[in-house]
Amino acid sequence: MRVLVIHGPNLNLLGEREVAIYGPVTLDQINDSMKSRALELGIDLECRQSNHEGEIIEQIQGARQGCDCLIINPAAFTHYSIAIRDALAALEIPIIEVHLSNIYSREPFRHKSVTAGVATGQISGFGPSSYALALEAAAMMPGRK
Ligand code: DQA
Repeated sequence: MRVLVIHGPNLNLLGEREVAIYGPVTLDQINDSMKSRALELGIDLECRQSNHEGEIIEQIQGARQGCDCLIINPAAFTHYSIAIRDALAALEIPIIEVHLSNIYSREPFRHKSVTAGVATGQISGFGPSSYALALEAAAMMPGRK
């Protein structure tokens, strides 16, 4: 099973960015821990990060070939990128939307996710464990929709 993880804008700064909200764990640490668990689960895991909407769209489109499940934290794009939503809607594999923070307990502009409606499900509020839980969910997914 092949799983792609896409981290959206500013997530490259995890560990130094708004630590009170996002915690001290870095993106490399999150990726390393997912890769170890993926090995145990027999999952071929690829992790990417981009600060650019178009690049994220191209990565999502790339998942149309040979990828069995997408885990994505669209970060701020969650709240307004119809273009990312449309790219996700065109994907015929399970999609797990992830957020470190609980977006529903934060500022009102974060309460709306334009992407969640085209995802299979959403995991929000468990810090780095949101990604760990997403990987467990991916392992249970039947594959293509
Ligand atoms: C986030 C929540 C978003 O509102 C925010 O813009 C982020 C990170 C999260 O993981 O909690 O950059 O997606």
